[in-house]
Amino acid sequence: MNLRRWPAAATAFLLVTAARPARAQADSTHKPAPPAESTYAPAQAARGESVFRRVCAECHVQSLFEGAAFRRSWAGRPAYDLFELIRTTMPQDNPGRLRRQEYADVVTYFLKLSGARPDTIELAADVDALRRVSFPPLPDRRGQ
Ligand code: HEC
Repeated sequence: MNLRRWPAAATAFLLVTAARPARAQADSTHKPAPPAESTYAPAQAARGESVFRRVCAECHVQSLFEGAAFRRSWAGRPAYDLFELIRTTMPQDNPGRLRRQEYADVVTYFLKLSGARPDTIELAADVDALRRVSFPPLPDRRGQ
């Protein structure tokens, strides 16, 4: 009986844990957050793609950042989260080596791969701008 109940408890725990960082971020700002947009500027995505080819492709295949697993884990999350993750951990052999704008360009490239909408506004490498843009929600929410 206990064994059968464990998966549900574990799932609930994971959901609560996953929801926490987003709430902490929302609380840390006093301004009401405008709704996040899922957009990218094509010219910037092209620059991000060349950064990716030059730096990241040494260790990563592009398909890692356009597959279902990547979309599922980033759907609806702010660009800021991925920017910070990459900026503080990548390239793995020298984290933080790139300029902030280069990290924002790579994130823009990933927004494109995730199906964000093309737009003219480029993604600046500052916290507010990065929080205003989010990864697109999944088109089909079954299986989440
Ligand atoms: C020298 C090799 C190397 C380079 C260069 C590199 N990475 Fe990585 N990356 C790794 C390895 C290894 C992992 C798995 C690390 C882990 O799971 O702890 C990883 C994991 C990741 C993850 C997943 C992190 C997570 O916690 O889910 C992302 C996103 C990522 N890399 C993005 C990038 C981007 C973007 C670049 C280029 C700016 C890049 N990486 C450059 C080796 C590299």
